[in-house]
Amino acid sequence: MSHLQWSIKYRPRSLSEVENQEEVKEELKSWLESWMNGKPNYKAVLLNGPPGVGKTTIAEAMAHDYNMELLEMNASDSRRLNDVKSIAEKASTSSSLFGEKGRIILLDEVDGINSRQDAGAIPAIIDLIEETKFPIILTANNVWDPSLRELRNVAKLIDLKRLGKIPMKKLLERICKAEKVICDPKGIGAIADVSEGDARYAINILQSIAEVYRRVTEDLVKELVRKKERTLDPFETLRDIFWAKFFWQARAAATTSEVDYELLIRWISENIPLQFQDMEDVFRGFDVLGKASIFLRRAKLGDWDLLSYVFDLMGPGVAFAESSKLNGSWKAKWVKYQFPSYVHLMSKTKESRDALRSASEKIAKACHCSTDKAINEYFPFMRVLPLDEFSPQELKVIKGIERESETKNGERQQQRKNIRSRKRT
Ligand SMILES: Nc1ncnc2c1ncn2[C@@H]1O[C@H](COP(=O)(O)OP(=O)(O)OP(=O)(O)O)[C@@H](O)[C@H]1O
Ligand SMILES: [Mg+2]
Repeated sequence: MSHLQWSIKYRPRSLSEVENQEEVKEELKSWLESWMNGKPNYKAVLLNGPPGVGKTTIAEAMAHDYNMELLEMNASDSRRLNDVKSIAEKASTSSSLFGEKGRIILLDEVDGINSRQDAGAIPAIIDLIEETKFPIILTANNVWDPSLRELRNVAKLIDLKRLGKIPMKKLLERICKAEKVICDPKGIGAIADVSEGDARYAINILQSIAEVYRRVTEDLVKELVRKKERTLDPFETLRDIFWAKFFWQARAAATTSEVDYELLIRWISENIPLQFQDMEDVFRGFDVLGKASIFLRRAKLGDWDLLSYVFDLMGPGVAFAESSKLNGSWKAKWVKYQFPSYVHLMSKTKESRDALRSASEKIAKACHCSTDKAINEYFPFMRVLPLDEFSPQELKVIKGIERESETKNGERQQQRKNIRSRKRT
């Protein structure tokens, strides 16, 4: 069984393999050729469309077809944006540095830019578009996001539509054939129905059914879609992982689970000592789970390919930490799974966390600072000198500062009254 996701394994390498986007391809080709003729009609194009319709794929396939180098980056990663800017600058001044190949710059997912946290990113992209010596492709899911208004003005907008049912079926059938999966046309049709034009989603459904059953029927698709709630249930996922007899069962349980991955790791961790009898098994279980957690951290930093190892480790890795599974003496042991104590802890400490938040909001309001600042900078002082450390006399003085000013105010008012009454007389 290949671990590669089929949506990646079977992504079109060439524009000719991209389904259902004929007009987009033609428009892009003539745009790129205008660049090659030295008279670009636009410096940048903005591919706009829903997820999984081929935006990223088309950019990559086009670079491949024209034998160009693709400088690819996710636009929401602003640190990389600086890299690309400097590469683009260097590339435009000294082309020999990069060989003779032409290049295309791809800024993927520009709507992922957080315009508040990353105020400089959009202006930086606009500058890049103005100065660029290379064609730039931008992609977005929702180009009508207000933060993209300026980008819309400097790039040519090209809309991609959702994949129709016929091209979607064609695409799925091709994969079935290549993977030698028995595919029932009705089953493929059912996937095309539920995926609503998102090819990545459709291929993922196909793979998750085919890897377990080696065939795709309408019943299985309907079953899977109906079973969707089951995948949200951590107790079911735990049982499927711990009781898996085969590698693929444990992996399917981990990949199809819709429980948040981090939370799932906590669930597994809580229940390993309950499920496993042998201390060495427990040790091995925690060991692989720890590694899963490290890979998950890395994946979340942007290296999403690593997610594959997270599934391997927390699925089959945990399932086969139990040595009796390897020598055939394993028996299913029914245990009542526990909630992660982390979840308990969070609910137990809810009151004090709420109190901390409301106290910090009060301080933040009085001091015109953020609640973070209140917690990190003011609270430590207040904790060093809690009020009950002071003697009653000292407390009087501390509180008296207020009273003193109160009495002063009172005195002033009295004086004013006196003056007024004197004037009247
Ligand atoms: N038009 C298409 N023809 C063939 N395969 C496609 C097409 N569109 C998408 N796919 C398949 O779906 C996968 C995901 O497509 P891609 O990454 O290009 O989507 P996207 O439009 O960039 O989505 P997102 O907005 O989520 O980034 C591809 O790897 C490919 O396998
Ligand atoms: Mg994409």
